[in-house]
Amino acid sequence: MDNIKLYLAPMEGITTYAYRRAYEHHFGNIDRYFTPFIANKKMGKRDRDGILPENNSAKELVPQILTNSTEDFLAICRALAPYGYKKVNLNLGCPSATVVGKKRGAGFLGEKERLEQFLEEVFEKSSMEISLKTRIGLNEEDEWEELLAVYEKFPLEELIVHPRLRCDFYKGEIRFHAFEKAIKRIKVPLCYNGEINSLEDYLRVKERFPTITRFMIGRGILRYPGLTEEIVSWEKERNQGKEIPSYRESKTDREELLKRTRDFHEEILEEYKKIMSGDLNTLFKMKELWCYLGESFPGKEKSLKKIRKTNSLREYEIEVNNILRD
Ligand SMILES: Cc1cc2nc3c(=O)[nH]c(=O)nc-3n(C[C@H](O)[C@H](O)[C@H](O)COP(=O)(O)O)c2cc1C
Repeated sequence: MDNIKLYLAPMEGITTYAYRRAYEHHFGNIDRYFTPFIANKKMGKRDRDGILPENNSAKELVPQILTNSTEDFLAICRALAPYGYKKVNLNLGCPSATVVGKKRGAGFLGEKERLEQFLEEVFEKSSMEISLKTRIGLNEEDEWEELLAVYEKFPLEELIVHPRLRCDFYKGEIRFHAFEKAIKRIKVPLCYNGEINSLEDYLRVKERFPTITRFMIGRGILRYPGLTEEIVSWEKERNQGKEIPSYRESKTDREELLKRTRDFHEEILEEYKKIMSGDLNTLFKMKELWCYLGESFPGKEKSLKKIRKTNSLREYEIEVNNILRD
């Protein structure tokens, strides 16, 4: 399959171990999962649950760290090592005002000298393989060349690029030409991330960057969990020399997919019922999922609205049933 690798993007509050494990059980097709960022060197219960091997059935899970302190980064690496982790990822993309204000995430991109010193020290002192997940700058595209000049100095395990500036947040045109610059300069494996929401989007990115084999997908999977299946099927059939398959056209496939989505949802819900304190917290977690998943069900607006409004887990389950049983 041309060694195509698909990654599930880390999404704070959403791609928890419960989500990742259920995704792996019912859809799979993901070569590498990432935890949402771990920011506290003491690693709270949620962070710890997220990395415990017994909570993770995936082939590969890479913990992500959000910090600008070498001391904290190294402390988190030391805490992860006994669980068998050999790779970590540094978050250089989080655009939230609180994070950026503390010069972490995308905020660290504005401190290039400090960032370079940080990387020098962690590469020297840590035996972990380190990858970066980065935006292309804070406010100006000109920042990208300087960042690339820093990144190319280090033996990164990989460089994952979301070709947007911090000021773009999660909207606006993807700055494809910036990704092209990375391809020209960066010698370590590069992974593309951003707005792969359909098979067509995937094919467009692939056509534009034919040498790229690593793709990280976030909201596209949240909205439509069957997306990786479409991509993998397309790749398989292409390798067998077939015409481009029209995966979603078959009714059996659609029904099968709906059933899997149902089981996937059920598994996440059951886990949250076990680990969250109280129905309302469980409901809150599940509602977050539907902000994205709901987009796959046009014509179900009435039930989706009830899901948004309800405070009852029972009513929630009835409405989910309405959506996923049809
Ligand atoms: C709700 C939400 C939470 C996110 N949390 C994280 C995170 O913890 N770490 C991270 O590196 N990126 C995080 N991201 C960014 C995604 O990993 C990804 O880079 C971004 O959504 C673009 O990819 P997409 O267009 O495929 O969704 C988050 C994005 C969203 C929407």
